[in-house]
Amino acid sequence: MIDCILIRKFSVLLFAIALSGCSPFIPEPAPMWAYPTNPPQQSPPPPLPPGQLTLEGSKASFTWPELKNLFSAPDWHAEDHPPLPEVVAHGRKPAVRACAYCHLPTGNGRPENARIAGLPYNYFVAQMKAFRDGKRGTAVAGRAPTENMSKTAKDIQDDEIAAAAKYFSALPVQSYTRVVEASTIPKAEITAWIFRFSQLGGTEELGQRIVEGPEDFERFEMRDPAAKYIAYVPVGSIAWGKRLAEGWGFGRSLECSSCHGPGYKGKDDVPGLAGRNPTSIVRQLYDFRSSARKGGKSSEMDKVVRDMTNADMLALAAYLATLTP
Ligand code: HEC
Ligand code: HEC
Repeated sequence: MIDCILIRKFSVLLFAIALSGCSPFIPEPAPMWAYPTNPPQQSPPPPLPPGQLTLEGSKASFTWPELKNLFSAPDWHAEDHPPLPEVVAHGRKPAVRACAYCHLPTGNGRPENARIAGLPYNYFVAQMKAFRDGKRGTAVAGRAPTENMSKTAKDIQDDEIAAAAKYFSALPVQSYTRVVEASTIPKAEITAWIFRFSQLGGTEELGQRIVEGPEDFERFEMRDPAAKYIAYVPVGSIAWGKRLAEGWGFGRSLECSSCHGPGYKGKDDVPGLAGRNPTSIVRQLYDFRSSARKGGKSSEMDKVVRDMTNADMLALAAYLATLTP
């Protein structure tokens, strides 16, 4: 009799766990589609033409080696933004890479890194210190963009952090990503740290992933700050992500705007989420969840992500990326 009661209670518990989608005993592995990795030597990008390269609408020109110099950020539209502080334009050899090389002079970033334009000044400074102190890492090590960010921060001085934070936090926030719900997508292969959609035709199943990549790979390689991106997300994920963001996640996630502000545009020292690259949102949520990202005010996110599944992260990111920043 007692055994029966115990068994019944236990099966109710198991049933509840199954319904909730939580996996309290087995942590889910990292969603690798959010951390695409295929070092350039294994997946050479298509060759760019030799000589001086130009972009429509810009008077500047750069050679291919100039476009690959981590200590000098190509600036196609210098007239569109305030002068770049030295650390932002050139970094400081040997370890501090030029911030605008990866994050672009607009601070808009690219899918393999992060948008840093318009971040709250105090949040920006705290994150640089979290990287410097080794508290902020990432769940999937070995990706060059994040490794170089960590090396940059390890050697950075407080006055350089202040100059970069002042510059980037004053820039307007923009989004260049178009989110498209689909079940079949153009064939996509990983080139270096990003998906590249095949120009040769062919399709593949999206499954439960977000596949995000440049619309025009050559403009992406040329570090055009106006390059556009497409993020394919599973059908239904945007509507589901909206409900999760509003706190309807069966207790698996908390409502986001109370801290991230109306329209998820940021509030006080809490960063905005609207219109960010969706894979970068997933990486952050998974990094908090796996305790790879600490420091700053990360403890406030701990309770938000504690019971979140990878599917919840996908849906939240799909929805937030559709919003106007
Ligand atoms: C080699 C590329 C690269 C360079 C150079 C670089 N970063 Fe980053 N940065 C990244 C990546 C990648 C991330 C995201 C790390 C992660 O996955 O959490 C990042 C994240 C950040 C963040 C956190 C953004 C957020 O929303 O939390 C800040 C702030 C930042 N970088 C500032 C800088 C500054 C300032 C410099 C120059 C001194 C710089 N970065 C140079 C690649 C780079
Ligand atoms: C209790 C307040 C709180 C709630 C609720 C909250 N957040 Fe956060 N969130 C924060 C804070 C504070 C940070 C900055 C953490 C740090 O300093 O590292 C943050 C950071 C983040 C980041 C990283 C941003 C970046 O620039 O790297 C993401 C992504 C994020 N939150 C998503 C969410 C989502 C999605 C929800 C709702 C499901 C949510 N948050 C709910 C407080 C909150």
